Amino acid sequence: MYGFAGWLSGESDVEDDRRKEHWDRVYREKEPTQTSWYQSDPALSLALIERAALDLNARIIDVGGGASVLVDRLLQRGFQQPSVLDISAQGLEKARARLPVNAAVDWIVSSITEFRPTVRYALWHDRALFHFLTDPLDRTRYLAVLREGLAPQGQLIVAAFAPDGPSRCSGLEVVRYDAEKLGRELGAEFQLLEEITETHITPSGLEQRFGYFRYIYQPAKGLE
Ligand SMILES: C[S@@+](CC[C@H](N)C(=O)[O-])C[C@H]1O[C@@H](n2cnc3c(N)ncnc32)[C@H](O)[C@@H]1O
Repeated sequence: MYGFAGWLSGESDVEDDRRKEHWDRVYREKEPTQTSWYQSDPALSLALIERAALDLNARIIDVGGGASVLVDRLLQRGFQQPSVLDISAQGLEKARARLPVNAAVDWIVSSITEFRPTVRYALWHDRALFHFLTDPLDRTRYLAVLREGLAPQGQLIVAAFAPDGPSRCSGLEVVRYDAEKLGRELGAEFQLLEEITETHITPSGLEQRFGYFRYIYQPAKGLE
């Protein structure tokens, strides 16, 4: 999907091609259970989603969802049409292949920076995508897409490496966040409802500190 990324610089498409190659290779070469970010039970994400108190027909999107089992759990809980977006078709294919053929999931292959939402989501979940955006321009693009795609009064859940978490993941540099730093990126329209720190244990037994942040989106009047 190509849109306004080329608008500011022609280089973004090249960068997205590199990212896509990287992530497709990761998902081709590893089973989801072998990736450092694997969780058999995304319990904290599910608890935060539960606290958002959504109707089962509310639209939820998991951006950078890859092969995560979060979508399986959302379907089990009765959510009617969750969306999963990822730059890697290979990653999404791993998830799609394990679900029943008639699973009502909206699979979206796109870089988040290029995504043009056609609906407004009641909840936007991001575990470990935003922290890969080391270029401020990419973060600006992400936030523009987020504001376009999240319904006013919708909720945002972001999980990112904490300040005492790793500085790299999957061979790529990341930006680590606490609530203050993430709040500065998101701006005043996103009001923090809660934050929780989690120590994730990778399949090889390493500890990784994550921060989880839940916000409500309250755009200024006229910008809705
Ligand atoms: C560390 S993994 C996390 C996967 C999943 N959220 C989880 O918690 O299991 C990061 C994911 O973000 C995806 N990703 C990286 N950059 C992206 C981008 N610019 N747009 C969309 N997805 C991206 C990768 O393909 C990968 O699936």
